Amino acid sequence: MKHFLDINKTAVDDLRNMIDSAKTIKDARNGRPKGALDDDLPLKDHMVALIFEKPSTRTRVSFDVGVRQMGGQTMVLSGSEMQLGHGETVADTAKVLSRYVDLIMIRTFEEATLLEMAENATVPVINGLTNRTHPCQIMADILTFEEKAGPIAGKKVVWSGDGNNVFASFAHAAGQFGFDLTFTGPQTLDPEQGFIDEARAKGVKVEIERDPVKAVQGADLVVTDTWVSMHDAPSARERRHNQLRGFQVNEELMSHAKEDALFMHCLPAHRNEEATNAVMDGPNSAVFDEAENRLHAQKAIMKWCLQS
Ligand code: CP
Repeated sequence: MKHFLDINKTAVDDLRNMIDSAKTIKDARNGRPKGALDDDLPLKDHMVALIFEKPSTRTRVSFDVGVRQMGGQTMVLSGSEMQLGHGETVADTAKVLSRYVDLIMIRTFEEATLLEMAENATVPVINGLTNRTHPCQIMADILTFEEKAGPIAGKKVVWSGDGNNVFASFAHAAGQFGFDLTFTGPQTLDPEQGFIDEARAKGVKVEIERDPVKAVQGADLVVTDTWVSMHDAPSARERRHNQLRGFQVNEELMSHAKEDALFMHCLPAHRNEEATNAVMDGPNSAVFDEAENRLHAQKAIMKWCLQS
């Protein structure tokens, strides 16, 4: 069973093949209407369940469109409307869904839910975000970086802000794709040390630098994310804003990175909070390419999951 649960759990060769396949899939669609079928239809006659226990725009639409372009059909399921949200176990849900569908994508809260789904499903399971990681997003980000700036291996990526689930998948990717990663943010919002140790053990440089200006020096890519994630208590908003204000990505901060450094944000953004409009809409911003590339990267991931 080929589940796509996390970047660090997927072989380096498979990850590289997925990025290359995503580029090919994207190029082949150049100029076609969004609803047109691909030439290659690996999901023909396949049914895909898309389960959302949290809100989504990009993940929901890009998976739905991607499945249809590859010839399959989708069933978008809200966790609260399923028996899963009313006491049925994740294991039983996985076993039942496996009788109806060929592939499951789930966005959920706890990583344990994803893992229990994968352990009990007899079809591939894809991680569409948990509180801990967001691997599909980072596959799209790698694709985006390489389209614009060439191979990411050996490059310097700087994350400014909260050491959250999206950062965690960047740390996994640093180890697998071989790029250096610097985290800059307040100590109270540091990422789990385990993510850093694991990447370092794979031979890449991972640093924590409290001064954002020093952190971005020599950066090829600067990344940030919303200061309050979906799994954070709304009551934490004011405290987090106070902690993170100094780590806003603005033109002044970007001026200390390489001149051609890219800026990324997985979206949704809170404009003029974690990043200013000038950066979000500036010439080095890749935010909407990242969003588009969710579609192409995830098609490559689904294709890989179903290859024997
Ligand atoms: N970046 C991302 O996962 O977006 P959505 O929450 O809209 O799916």
